[in-house]
Amino acid sequence: MSFTVAIDGPAAAGKGTISKAVAAHFGLAHLDTGLLYRAVGRRTLDGTDPVEAARSLTAEELEQGDLRTAEIAQAASKVAVLPEVRAALVDFQRSFARRAGGAVLDGRDIGTVICPEAEVKLFVTASPEVRAERRYLELVGKGADVTRAQVLADVRERDARDAERSTAPMKPADDAVLLDTTDLSIEAALEKAIAVIQEKLPAGG
Ligand code: CDP
Ligand code: CDP
Repeated sequence: MSFTVAIDGPAAAGKGTISKAVAAHFGLAHLDTGLLYRAVGRRTLDGTDPVEAARSLTAEELEQGDLRTAEIAQAASKVAVLPEVRAALVDFQRSFARRAGGAVLDGRDIGTVICPEAEVKLFVTASPEVRAERRYLELVGKGADVTRAQVLADVRERDARDAERSTAPMKPADDAVLLDTTDLSIEAALEKAIAVIQEKLPAGG
């Protein structure tokens, strides 16, 4: 049986980690939609027009280089405000969501805009401090030259921009299940996510 799981939430809440594991558990394909906005954001760093970048984005660009830097995260959230940029990325995401074997997509507007018909919607959150600490450890682990204070400021700034934009703002869908991972290990968060999905699926799914 094929179904779509929509996982939204703010920066470093654990969306990607949960999505990957859920996809593996249920045998679904996974798309991290943040990478689309990051790839567009990266292109604008050399002055490329963001709408042009979104319209000409290729799948190969998502694989090239490290898109998970602090600089690209900021650029991503700035281009993500533009309605034309978002519009240019919709078809790719919707066709991914409808692929035959089922899919997990994670982002900010999957349950509200990209796939409102998803069988299961999760909104993953955690306190800004805990999220910033997780992202800080990730960035430092990759050798990035950042401070805790910078990462927390970056997370807060992106959260505000993502939640306050007029097109497809970050917010839980009315029928999303909230999962607060502030005090949860990755394993505990994953266990809860899988339980929610299993419960929402039609019997035998
Ligand atoms: O995709 P998103 O930005 O929401 O977060 P992520 O990349 O899945 O997680 C950010 C970092 O937090 C990763 O290094 C995870 O291993 C870590 N994490 C954690 O420590 N505890 C959790 N419950 C979830 C994620
Ligand atoms: O991993 P993290 O949560 O830090 O960021 P991400 O998911 O890679 O997303 C980077 C930025 O892209 C976000 O701050 C949003 O501004 C934007 N984004 C969006 O607007 N809509 C999505 N579906 C996914 C990402």
